[in-house]
Amino acid sequence: MAKSLVIYYSRKGNNYVNGGIRNLKKGNTEIVAEFIADAVGADLFEVETVRTYNEDYMVCIEEAKEDMRENARPELKKYLDSIEQYDNIVVAGPCWWGTYPYAIFTQLEKLDFSGKKVFPVMTHEGSGLAGSAQALKKYCKGAVVGNGLAVHGADAANSRGAVEKWAKTNLM
Ligand SMILES: Cc1cc2nc3c(=O)[nH]c(=O)nc-3n(C[C@H](O)[C@H](O)[C@H](O)COP(=O)(O)O)c2cc1C
Repeated sequence: MAKSLVIYYSRKGNNYVNGGIRNLKKGNTEIVAEFIADAVGADLFEVETVRTYNEDYMVCIEEAKEDMRENARPELKKYLDSIEQYDNIVVAGPCWWGTYPYAIFTQLEKLDFSGKKVFPVMTHEGSGLAGSAQALKKYCKGAVVGNGLAVHGADAANSRGAVEKWAKTNLM
């Protein structure tokens, strides 16, 4: 059986859910990442920034926009050094302005993806997979980009069945 790793970023705190702001104890992407791990026995690696993004949704939106403007590489609390033991790498994150949070790129640029298969997973409030596959083509040099999975963030907790089906079809 193929060995899989899920690299994910997920923000706790206030989030925009179906037109309203709600406080989430666990981020949407983290819920989905755990469903993938349960489905195929994947390992999990959480990307955590040294400087946390603001709890307040509207402030966070501005911080994320600033990252884009600066093409930032936010510093992480810990780094993954190698993905040598894995066949499949799932890169899961929330859609931030049409792509992944830039902290994910900080991590991806440190890894050697030669011969690996990578899969975009994105939670979102309407943008679907947005630019996730394009980002993986750019930042995971040498990897083949496989089928992605988009999960509506507000439905993350109810997505176990769909996530499991996708994981078993693509990662086994
Ligand atoms: C800074 C920021 C930017 C966002 N930009 C988008 C976007 O462009 N398109 C979209 O559909 N949702 C956008 N969202 C909503 C999130 O993608 C969605 O709520 C996601 O499920 C959050 O995942 P998380 O709880 O794992 O962080 C944005 C949220 C934030 C905080």
